[in-house]
Formats: sequence, structure tokens, C-alpha cells
Amino acid sequence: MTASQIALVTGAAGGFGTAICASLLEVGYHVVATDINIDALEGLIERLEHPANLTYMQMDVCDLDSVQEVVDTIEQRENASLSVLINNAGIISKNFCLQENSTIDAKKIIDVNLIGAINCASIVSRVMGRQRYGRIINIASVAGIWGASGGSAYAASKAGLIKASESWARELGPLNIVVTAIAPGICVTDMLGKFVSKDQVPKTGESKIVKSIVPTGRLGNPNDVSEVVTFLATCKTDYINGTVIALDGGMRVGQL
Ligand SMILES: NC(=O)c1ccc[n+]([C@@H]2O[C@H](COP(=O)([O-])OP(=O)(O)OC[C@H]3O[C@@H](n4cnc5c(N)ncnc54)[C@H](O)[C@@H]3O)[C@@H](O)[C@H]2O)c1
Repeated sequence: MTASQIALVTGAAGGFGTAICASLLEVGYHVVATDINIDALEGLIERLEHPANLTYMQMDVCDLDSVQEVVDTIEQRENASLSVLINNAGIISKNFCLQENSTIDAKKIIDVNLIGAINCASIVSRVMGRQRYGRIINIASVAGIWGASGGSAYAASKAGLIKASESWARELGPLNIVVTAIAPGICVTDMLGKFVSKDQVPKTGESKIVKSIVPTGRLGNPNDVSEVVTFLATCKTDYINGTVIALDGGMRVGQL
């Protein structure tokens, strides 16, 4: 891997984003870390100790012009190719559908989690199509497979992202662009605190209740996600295409 291979990460300043950037840097990518929150991005640079192969740019995935500007800047780099896109930006809120104002929340969630990913994939895949190479990795959720009580818009946005991934796998496969989705289970990041109250998050992630629902006996963490992202970004086969990887410690197999 040479640093002329560029990986674009959205929502890079968050829990998963930080681990994904660190892991892709480690295997030799030049990482373009983007996020709507510029202060948080600056914090990311400090946490990663200013690596030479990391560039950061503010980008709102909901704003096509903002996405286009970042991609144009990347394309101006000499001898660089935009090989990997990680659609990771996302938001959540507790929005029981009978709650007042829940549709305002719902539109925003679908805009960021689904339309945002579509914006990025559509602009980036045109560049990848010209190169005849690309890897697009979408961070979905088990909520997009099972639904989530109190998170209908979130679950719908992630189900949409899974179906978009499968559609892109069909459309872009002939151009040597492969598309996958990861569906993480419950992982400890700031986002978890936005969906359940702090005292509901088990401190060690290894409480009795967690052990009873997750066969591996713990909640997930950002490194679980970054390991799989890096595997998908670097593996040489183009035969993992349209695949949705459930990354949930076996939660989906249920309890017997
Ligand atoms: N934490 C979990 O349990 C979990 C489980 C399954 C899936 N996910 C998904 O993983 C992804 C990352 O989650 P996380 O836990 O790291 O959350 P996080 O809140 O730590 O990070 C999300 C990041 O997205 C950024 N963002 C929000 N709106 C944006 C926009 N319009 N444009 C660009 N960036 C924007 C935020 O600023 C933040 O830095 C999300 O898509 C989330 O839905 C998380």
C-alpha cells in the first residue's frame, strides 16, 4: 500500500470514525478525515498525534456541494487515487413515532444516514468508475435488519442503506467497484448515550444483561468496527460484494 491510495472517511471525528482513521493510516492509506464538526476533527488530529498521511476537511454529507468540494480537492492531488469510501457519518435520536415532533427528527435522521451516504457514494463512485477501482464500505446497523423500538427512523435509514449497498454492488461491480455494508450491534461510543440513558450503559459492557443477549459476553467497541473496515478495504478479492456483515457478537442468532 502506498500513501497515494486515498481513503475518504465521513463522520471521522466520532467513535468509530477515529478508530477507522487510525487503522487505515496504520496499513498505509492517506486518510481524508471529514466531519460536519470541525472542532471535533481538530481533536481527532491531536488524538492521532498529527500523522503526516492524514488530511482533515469539514464536510456535511447532506450538502452535495460540500461533498463535491472535498472530492475535487482530493482529485487535485498528484498521483493519488481515491480508492476507498467509508460512509460512516450518522445520527440517532429516540423518536417513538407517536411523540410530538418525531417526524422532524425522522427527516433529519434519514437525511444524514441515508441521503448523506447516497450523496457521497454517487460523487465518489464517478471518480472510482474512471479509475476502474474502488471499495465502498457503508456503516449500517443491526437496527436496519431487526428494527429498533423507539428508533424507527434510524432503523429505516439503516435498512435503506443496506438496500442501497446491495443495489450499488450490482451497479458498480462491472466497474471493479465493490460495495459492502457492516451492521454493528450495540457498541460503546457517544452515540449509545444518545439512545439510552447513561445509567443504562453498563460501565464495563460486561454486565449480566449484556452477557444474556450477546453470546460473546460484551458490547462492541470502535476497534471491532475498524478491524472489519480495514479488512474490507485491503483484501484483494473482489468477491465480497453486496455483502452485509453483521458485527454483533452473535446477538442475531438469538437466545435459546
Ligand atoms: N455506536 C453504535 O452502537 C452503533 C451501532 C451501529 C451502527 N452505528 C453507526 O456507526 C456510525 C458511527 O457511529 P458512532 O457510534 O461512531 O457515532 P458518533 O456520534 O461517535 O459519530 C458520528 C459522527 O458523525 C458526524 N456527523 C453527524 N452528522 C453529520 C453530517 N451531516 N455530515 C458529516 N458528519 C456528520 C458527527 O459529527 C460524529 O462525529 C453511525 O453511522 C452509526 O449510525 C453505531
